[in-house]
Amino acid sequence: MLVVEGLTCCFGSKAAVDDASFAVKPGSFVGVIGRSGAGKSTLLRMINRLAEPTAGRIMFEGQDVTALRGRELRQWRARSAMIFQQFNLVGRLDVLTNVLMGRLAEMPPWRSLVQAWPERDRALAMSALEQFDMGGVAAQRADSLSGGQQQRVAIARALVQEPDIILADEPIASLDPRNTRIVMDALLRINKHFGITVLCNLHSLDLARSYCDRLIGMSNGRIVFDGAPAALTESIARELYDLEANEVMGAASAPQPAGPMLPALGRAAAA
Ligand SMILES: Nc1ncnc2c1ncn2[C@@H]1O[C@H](COP(=O)(O)OP(=O)(O)OP(=O)(O)O)[C@@H](O)[C@H]1O
Ligand SMILES: [Mg+2]
Repeated sequence: MLVVEGLTCCFGSKAAVDDASFAVKPGSFVGVIGRSGAGKSTLLRMINRLAEPTAGRIMFEGQDVTALRGRELRQWRARSAMIFQQFNLVGRLDVLTNVLMGRLAEMPPWRSLVQAWPERDRALAMSALEQFDMGGVAAQRADSLSGGQQQRVAIARALVQEPDIILADEPIASLDPRNTRIVMDALLRINKHFGITVLCNLHSLDLARSYCDRLIGMSNGRIVFDGAPAALTESIARELYDLEANEVMGAASAPQPAGPMLPALGRAAAA
């Protein structure tokens, strides 16, 4: 269980995240929603300890994550894998090596220097790529792939970290609608098939409603909604996005396209 208590992050006099408290059960798929500047990225970055909290605590399975230093902090970062909008792959390296980077925390430094990856890790990385239909491009340079393919490689890299939780910060923000669906389905697969908790920042309310089993809505650094997607009313959506209600809710009931990667699980599992 991830527990966040009174978490606050100030930049100067401005609180980017202001007294956030919530608990996330293992295996949940939680969407963090809200308009630009609401504090979504800062919240995820604090959980991964990329941003330092000004106040409050993060606990994971009883351990105080906020107090971790050195090796223990590195281990926590491996257990809480981040996925970014811009994929963060090493373009000149091949896809398989990029995925193997997810094993670095497990390797003694000499092995990572000479890139002597154990056979088990290579098999794990290959199998992770195959999970997302990417086995065929394992030997290609990462920068030769499309955005959607690169994000799937980043997700495979996160998976081989064997994380307890995946923190995805707008993972589909630079993708077209088709790749958006493929990448969201890959995250859904990680969640449903491997049981890994996913905390995912999303701009789009429609996407959040179709994939997440719980939504945390942020506005000006504060949590203003925490509940099931069905409980998100028009007035809360309006507060979250500062828009006319019909602009926010209008497309929410649009037909959902079928997900090609998850025929067995389907969208119903997440809806
Ligand atoms: N390193 C920083 N230094 C100063 N201010 C920052 C820093 N990081 C974030 N902020 C400010 O904190 C607030 C929250 O930013 P954050 O990036 O968390 O929002 P967000 O919800 O992720 O927005 P977006 O949807 O645009 O990604 C914003 O006002 C932002 O300008
Ligand atoms: Mg952000």
